[in-house]
Amino acid sequence: MKFKAIVFDLDGVICFTDEYHYRAWKVLADKLNTPFDRTINNRLRGVSRMASLEIILEKYTGPALTQEDKERFAAEKNDIYRESLKEMSPADLSDEVKNTLDLLRSRGLLLTIGSSSKNTPFILHQIGLDGYFDAISDGNNITHSKPDPEVFLKAAEFAHVDPADCLVVEDAVSGAEAGHRAGMKVACLGDASLNKAGDWNLSSFAELADIPELN
Ligand code: BG6
Ligand code: MG
Repeated sequence: MKFKAIVFDLDGVICFTDEYHYRAWKVLADKLNTPFDRTINNRLRGVSRMASLEIILEKYTGPALTQEDKERFAAEKNDIYRESLKEMSPADLSDEVKNTLDLLRSRGLLLTIGSSSKNTPFILHQIGLDGYFDAISDGNNITHSKPDPEVFLKAAEFAHVDPADCLVVEDAVSGAEAGHRAGMKVACLGDASLNKAGDWNLSSFAELADIPELN
């Protein structure tokens, strides 16, 4: 069986924004006097902005927060995060990722994005990939965050392909679960690969080109 499309997660797969997310959430956590470290940060991979805030607040012991407070804090985090994104440029897209994407496209595969991030269009613009993907499904068109399969099912729908013909590429365990729940096979990188969450657990982006079903 051969795949017709690939659905790439963005953060941690196409480019690396983890540190920016971490630093921005750290400012907020410090402000709320709540413990926050890289282990907690790992749990935020693939998770929406508001769901991430709820995870951070698990250890919060201060005065009760209203939904309005939470939305204000999430917006504040996003403002800090977007300041960091402004520093990104096409230099933040590695040759390895760009060359592998081009190679996969030359084999006739549709290349799509399936990301929980509402900042997807801005990030793609910053790294020089405006208009590159055949379809984009992101935090702006979903109501349920990974591990819900919605973001990947929408990517398949936007690319007019059957979910069973798509391969998901993910670095988050929650994202790998979302891919499987969408009825897709999953190739993992980074944290998700270390956790053996995928049907293929890769050690580099370039290894994607060696998957027989993508040849
Ligand atoms: C995902 C990241 O891609 O997007 C998560 O892995 C992040 O860490 C989520 O919380 C939402 O991002 P944004 O840009 O909409 O705040
Ligand atoms: Mg990711």
